[in-house]
Amino acid sequence: MKGIILAGGAGTRLHPITIGTSKQLLPVGDKPMIYYPLSVLMIAGIRDILIVTNPADTPRFRALLGDGSQLGLSITYAEQPSPRGIADAILIGAEHIGDGPVALILGDNIFHGTNFSATLTENARDVRGCVLFGYPVNDPRRYGVGESDANGDLVSIEEKPRHPRSNRAITGLYLYDNDVVDISKNLRPSPRGELEITDVNRVYLERGRARLVNLGRGFAWLDTGTPKSLLQAGQYVGALEERQGVRIACIEEIALRMGFIDADACHRLGSRMAASDYGSYVMAIAAELG
Ligand code: G1P
Repeated sequence: MKGIILAGGAGTRLHPITIGTSKQLLPVGDKPMIYYPLSVLMIAGIRDILIVTNPADTPRFRALLGDGSQLGLSITYAEQPSPRGIADAILIGAEHIGDGPVALILGDNIFHGTNFSATLTENARDVRGCVLFGYPVNDPRRYGVGESDANGDLVSIEEKPRHPRSNRAITGLYLYDNDVVDISKNLRPSPRGELEITDVNRVYLERGRARLVNLGRGFAWLDTGTPKSLLQAGQYVGALEERQGVRIACIEEIALRMGFIDADACHRLGSRMAASDYGSYVMAIAAELG
């Protein structure tokens, strides 16, 4: 399965912070935001990843992640000249997707919870149609909102409804079979002029091929779209990391644990950041697991 991280957009709700830099490079705790969605793809076992960015930001993402080989990944980049909607990432990534399934994740979505890796691998194993992940929120009107039946099949989906039918937000992680390419090609832009991912998901729903997995209240799906939510996300991550002495979304550790790199390679990555606590952590993990 291929992966796509959509890290475009103007981040206008974070201005002036995002005037000079990309939102997805801002810090959440002690690491760049994009580490979190990248970690999600990695724990799902996905190693071939396309990052879609604004043209101006591509060099910065490249400086951070390179070609991914240091993590045992293949990372390539594509540009989204203007924010044309989430489904536009599928069109931009059509060649990367090829003829197989794809996991699309938004570069500003933070997922954290027990057994997430098992939930992911189980659902990514044999994707037929689409798999969406729902999460209860107190302000569903800000999101795509879905309902599922007792079998976990999606029965309704609406984008930012004025009167939501449930409190279940559709999170920014989408697993698709290869039909997603054709569906996205045939999409009409919304009144906002965007290719809405909710319209893609609705086509799957109409075909009876959409599932909605509930992440449940014991899970954390965090927003980073405003200064306040960005700060809260950083505080959440920081509080857990300090309490437990482990790091969330440490891509070097995940690469090692997933067997993408060996302990020596992991240690080298840490030693390049030895002046930071993050770097020391990576080296300590390499020593512990080596
Ligand atoms: C987008 C999607 C929405 C989804 C959300 C998740 O909204 O359109 O369906 O719930 O991402 O982060 P946006 O954040 O672009 O307004």
